[in-house]
Amino acid sequence: MSETVKYETQDGIALISVNNPPVNSLSHPVRSGLAEAFSAADRDTEVEAIVLRCEGRTFIAGADITEFGKPMKAPSLPDVLSLMDSVGKPIVAALHGTALGGGLETALSCHYRIAAPAARVGLPEVRLGLLPGAGGTQRLPRVIGVEKALDMIVSGRQVKAAEALEIGLVDRIAVTDLTEEAIAFARELADSGAAPRRCSEQAVDSGALDAGFFDRYRQATAKRQRGFEAPQACIDAVESATRLPFTEGLEAERELFVKLISSPQSKAQRHLFFADREASNVAGLPKETPIREIGSVGVIGAGTMGAGIAINFLNAGIPVTLLEVQQEALDRGLATIRNYYQDRRKKGRLTAEQADACAALVTGTLDYADFAGVDLVIEAVFESMEIKHQVFKRLDEVCRPGAILATNTSTLNVDEIAAVTGRPEDVVGLHFFSPAQVMRLLEVVRGAKTCDEVLATSMKLAGRIGKVGVVAGVCDGFIGNRMLKGYGREAGTLLLEGASPVQIDKAVHQFGMAMGPIAMSDLAGLDVGYRIRQQRRERGDNIPASEGAVADRLVELGRLGQKSGKGYYRYDAGSRAPIPDPEVDDVIREAAAELGIERSQITDDEIVQRLIYPLVNEAALILEEGIAQRPGDIDVVWVNGYGFPVYRGGPMCYADEIGLPAVLDKIREFQSRYGDIWKPAPLLERLVAENKSFADL
Ligand code: 3HC
Ligand code: NAI
Repeated sequence: MSETVKYETQDGIALISVNNPPVNSLSHPVRSGLAEAFSAADRDTEVEAIVLRCEGRTFIAGADITEFGKPMKAPSLPDVLSLMDSVGKPIVAALHGTALGGGLETALSCHYRIAAPAARVGLPEVRLGLLPGAGGTQRLPRVIGVEKALDMIVSGRQVKAAEALEIGLVDRIAVTDLTEEAIAFARELADSGAAPRRCSEQAVDSGALDAGFFDRYRQATAKRQRGFEAPQACIDAVESATRLPFTEGLEAERELFVKLISSPQSKAQRHLFFADREASNVAGLPKETPIREIGSVGVIGAGTMGAGIAINFLNAGIPVTLLEVQQEALDRGLATIRNYYQDRRKKGRLTAEQADACAALVTGTLDYADFAGVDLVIEAVFESMEIKHQVFKRLDEVCRPGAILATNTSTLNVDEIAAVTGRPEDVVGLHFFSPAQVMRLLEVVRGAKTCDEVLATSMKLAGRIGKVGVVAGVCDGFIGNRMLKGYGREAGTLLLEGASPVQIDKAVHQFGMAMGPIAMSDLAGLDVGYRIRQQRRERGDNIPASEGAVADRLVELGRLGQKSGKGYYRYDAGSRAPIPDPEVDDVIREAAAELGIERSQITDDEIVQRLIYPLVNEAALILEEGIAQRPGDIDVVWVNGYGFPVYRGGPMCYADEIGLPAVLDKIREFQSRYGDIWKPAPLLERLVAENKSFADL
């Protein structure tokens, strides 16, 4: 028998152990090893019952995702699972770690299941743009019922052992030693003459479902998971389980699976799965780089960002000292944090004890001396270099040697901030996204002098507080905000050229962005950009007349966005629903006339190209300059920080899907119309000339 799947027998029980680090995925040697081992156990007349278990940190975590897209080497997983299903002796699966996807499908093809108390099970295929393709959609409804199965399959959520026991997905929870108790379970089954309990022989109980059940489920899911194809296919497959005999249901599932696996959506979601994990690898950072202990954190500024940043650490059980200039601002910040935990409690996300324990970890102060012992300080004060300098000089005086000094600046030069300290190697940018306690992205900005230890510790810390850390170099806007500039510019120009706010937002929403650029501006407040443009004008920067032409007029009319009840749209009191406003159409028309811009119909396709292609072009520059390490990092930034549709995999993945030659052609067309703001990035031109894509970098 192979190294990967070990076969032993003891006292009439066959023990089959999978050993395929790191996560025991079902790669070819595992599949063939399982087929061989189960055939052997079935044949062996001495064997009365069988236990399937795994070595290492987890039970099987699913199919081997790296094998997708390549021809499947026999035996296929469905074939292996059919074989297991048909074995004439009871099989017990011993689950620990995470039994996911094909792993749970394997466990469902065993006849009985026992789980370690900390084990979790789930069918996360939907998150990879897939459905469980090895019988999961047919077996699970037979074991736990249609509604519970749909919930697990369509959401992809993980279920803890206790819940799995409650819903009948596992039979037992081990008390002390999982393997020993699994063997004892198998022995009991053998002694009692229990027959194999095959899913394939169980009926699906759909008696309680009315005729419209699946259609309503489809509609509700389409709303919740807008634009995603896989959840709908999951529902189709489960519905098949209620209509078709087992083997025909398996065929229907297979057909849907094969269609999804070659779909652009699944490719995009699989790309993100790996890009997410790769983001934590920092090129040139030795693996053995020491990590500094972060046991306590200081946050400066308790405004929009500071309070949210603090909550991240409190949630992770790390005490925070929050510093403000004035008692009033401090009280406001502390109240924001208290309200957050009250809300979590009310919504049932945290128990009263958990909420109180988190909230108790924050201390407010007006005195820098209270930072003497902290391991990390994050500054989130006003966006002014002068104030940042004052703050960092104070930090340099009070913080202990080795403390990490971080700035949350979104536009200022991290190196300039670091330069006022005597320890620029300990300074780093930790750029959170608003709302900081919600958005999963953390740009870790590596200054020219930031040392390896500080960078490695920051990346590790990102994971600890549930963020995905992406390393960025120093430049105006780092990765995400730098790319946003062209997006905002084009939205403004499109308005002048004839597209309405509604048309632009609809086209972008249809493309899959969480929100269109115009509604987004209203949410963020038009005065922010206005002030920046005024400052740039005062500095003598050369700003094209069309830039902010509409927004500036709106601000001057007192239309600041949602906060003033009107911006590009108008808002009824207490509502965030945008209502088109003819007054704004007049403003746009006047601005266009003054600038001599002829207005015409613009197609939705052009709107999407004009907004998305600047992201791609700027990203190519960012890659060339080494501001981002790899295209996948840029995709991770845009999906987790800016609401780029997950099923499009991020702007780079999307450009590859369209085809870089087509993207470059369009960019050249826009360049001939609008000049060098559309100048193609040399990297993009080179990739097209070499017939390559971003994925080849
Ligand atoms: N296939 C191939 N590689 C996998 C993998 C898989 N299913 N799951 C994880 N890996 C790799 C990761 O890429 C990573 O590689 P790296 O070290 O080179 O970066 C390594 O295993 C460890 O993974 P994590 O860093 O994610 O480790 P964690 O301990 O944080 O998480 C986990 C472990 C919960 C198992 C997580 O890896 C996970 O969620 N994996 C994916 C599970 C999944 O989606 N399964 C369904 C697959 S599709 C399927 O089964 C189809 C079937 O229905 C036919
Ligand atoms: P804010 O205005 O809401 O909060 C700033 C807080 O800092 C105020 O409470 C103020 O009292 C306090 N403060 C000012 N000077 C101080 C000082 N010298 N010492 C201590 N506290 C001081 O601002 P916001 O939006 O939270 O931004 C803070 C920083 O985060 C800025 O650098 C900004 O660029 C950055 N940022 C903002 C994002 C956003 O969406 N608002 C997103 C990402 C970064």
